[in-house]
Amino acid sequence: MSDAAARIALLREEIARHNEAYFGEDAPTIPDADYDALVVELRRLESLHPELTGADSPTTRVGSAPSTTFSSVHHRVPMMSLDNAFDDGELRAWSERLSRVLSLASLDEVFFSVEPKIDGLAMSITYEDGRYVQAATRGDGLVGEDVTANVATIPSVPTTLTIRARTAPRVLEVRGEIYLPVAQFAALNERQAADGLRLFVNPRNAAAGSLRQKDPSVTASRPLAFIAYQLGALEASASSAFATKSHAAALAALRDAGFHTAAETVSIKGIDEVIQRCAWIEERRHDFDYEVDGVVVKCDDFDLRERAGATSRAPRWAIARKLPPEERTTTLLRIEVSIGRTGRATPYAVLDPVFVGGSTVSMATLHNEDQVRAKDVRPKDTVVVRKAGDVIPEVVGPVVATGRRPRRWHFPSTCPACGGPLVRLEGESDTYCTNLDCPSQRVQRIAHFASRSAMDIEGLGEQRVLQLIEANLVNDVADLYELAAEQLRGLEGMGELSAANLVAGIEESRSRPLNRLLVGLGVRHLGPTGSKAIASVIGSLEAIREADLVVLAAVEGIGEVIAESIATFVRNPLNAAVLDRLLAQGLTTVEMSPGAAAAPTLAGKVIVVTGTVPGYSRDEAIAAIEARGGTSPGSVSKKTYCVVVGESPGASKLTKATDLGVTIIPGERFDELLATGVA
Ligand code: IVH
Repeated sequence: MSDAAARIALLREEIARHNEAYFGEDAPTIPDADYDALVVELRRLESLHPELTGADSPTTRVGSAPSTTFSSVHHRVPMMSLDNAFDDGELRAWSERLSRVLSLASLDEVFFSVEPKIDGLAMSITYEDGRYVQAATRGDGLVGEDVTANVATIPSVPTTLTIRARTAPRVLEVRGEIYLPVAQFAALNERQAADGLRLFVNPRNAAAGSLRQKDPSVTASRPLAFIAYQLGALEASASSAFATKSHAAALAALRDAGFHTAAETVSIKGIDEVIQRCAWIEERRHDFDYEVDGVVVKCDDFDLRERAGATSRAPRWAIARKLPPEERTTTLLRIEVSIGRTGRATPYAVLDPVFVGGSTVSMATLHNEDQVRAKDVRPKDTVVVRKAGDVIPEVVGPVVATGRRPRRWHFPSTCPACGGPLVRLEGESDTYCTNLDCPSQRVQRIAHFASRSAMDIEGLGEQRVLQLIEANLVNDVADLYELAAEQLRGLEGMGELSAANLVAGIEESRSRPLNRLLVGLGVRHLGPTGSKAIASVIGSLEAIREADLVVLAAVEGIGEVIAESIATFVRNPLNAAVLDRLLAQGLTTVEMSPGAAAAPTLAGKVIVVTGTVPGYSRDEAIAAIEARGGTSPGSVSKKTYCVVVGESPGASKLTKATDLGVTIIPGERFDELLATGVA
């Protein structure tokens, strides 16, 4: 066998295996992007060696053979797949092929439907005389599985069409996607975990698993939804609303009959507009209620579709423009444990760096011991890494091949930083290093004190703190206020100017309000809101130290747990010594304006802040809004009164504000807004 023939055979075998895992068992073992890469390679080799193209190649077929759990359904009209375009160039190449097939000089006057490609399960639903009679999966495109009872439980699948019985088509096949709304996915996995059941790796997988249940009541308990995007077989009179000549009209008829279609679907002219619209969808892919793995572009006119025809697996009149993958596989090199400021020991995965979701990922948190066990990831495993949008990267799970797995990882019993014991209390999921003197905790405590939400000391990040501790210049947060520029000069990466700047930054932080100092101290369970409440009601650090549990717990928003935690913290001798010194060092330890409430200029108004507003930290801007009776959530909605745009604003908030017609004002006008309440 030639090299090419051997590679082709191997790829076919591997793709067939993945098809079976994906379509047959709803348990994909590799991300879609890796699968696509295999198919692209096979197609390329087959086109170079036409003599090796066989009818049994996965490139000429769709999906996998149906399983034996459900009975078979022969589709009246085959359920085809779509060819892929991985970039705009491939999309243009497709349009050029299409214009040649259609013998058109250009497609400038041709209408296309551009729709999100929903990452769920393709479904064909049959209605006879307006009544729901059958639902079938795609299967191999010709024969699918009968899932009628299960699909009947999905609220967005109508049982009767909302059209007059006399005009209902004799037979109507509605094709679309069953999916699990993204918003429901996390909640479903939480329930699975609570019941000790397997976690789903993504919403698509969860939808597939929910649908292919022997017991329809299980399907009914999962919040699945259906979006229609295509007509299948149709037997209808010429006057039927479904006897249309265009896709746009067919979608309108489907909507009239009671189906949901994707709200973002548009009908536009020419390929340049199509490309722009693809970018539009890509930019918003995380704003939709379903996972979007591409954009489907379809020729709108049915006559043109007929003229274009199809290959054995896909129509020539449509294409899937794939979006960059958000999942990739890589090697989990090892699992390490980091120690936070409270001593919490968090396991994290050290990964062979991989480019995913727009950046290179080399580490990902594994949260706690139970998560490592639930995901069953082991050092040396090939794992799926996911990064949707700009959220934190996540290890989804291992790619489990047949054969032996690497050895299981065990949570260490001693702290990697200080060698002290790591303790997990009964009933808790977290493990702690209990040694308050642990160097790692110390670094984290000081870095937290200096962070933006606390004392906001510019230039004092984790690395710098580590350097100061190693140089024996600081041991606790009070030491910061005794640092002199001369001591800093000469440290690696620290010139005259940066030393002076750091000292100035520390100086400036002396005047941060009491609530920020409280946040900085890192009292367990005490966050920014609780700190604000304590500062304004109790009024000074001295008074807080004196306050007993009853006084602390009487503050609104402070429960017994937080009260207990504050009391324990301030009475701990090591902490008490630090507090004594902070008091002596002239920090602001008294609430400056207790009870001096600002005028409620923003009562009931919702104001979103994006970027940095001059003169305010993020928390201060929010506090200023709240002090005047307004609220400041993290995202823009119809209820938003206005959006304040500071330096380096978030693009998505601005786009959303523009889309919704919400007033936008520059950060420079923030003070005016606070004073007048008018945007
Ligand atoms: S049209 C002949 N439209 O993508 C055209 N498909 O690989 C058939 N999909 O199996 C499909 N969103 O599961 C179409 N708006 C959309 C879609 C869509 C998702 C899925 C569908 C299909 C696969 C194609």
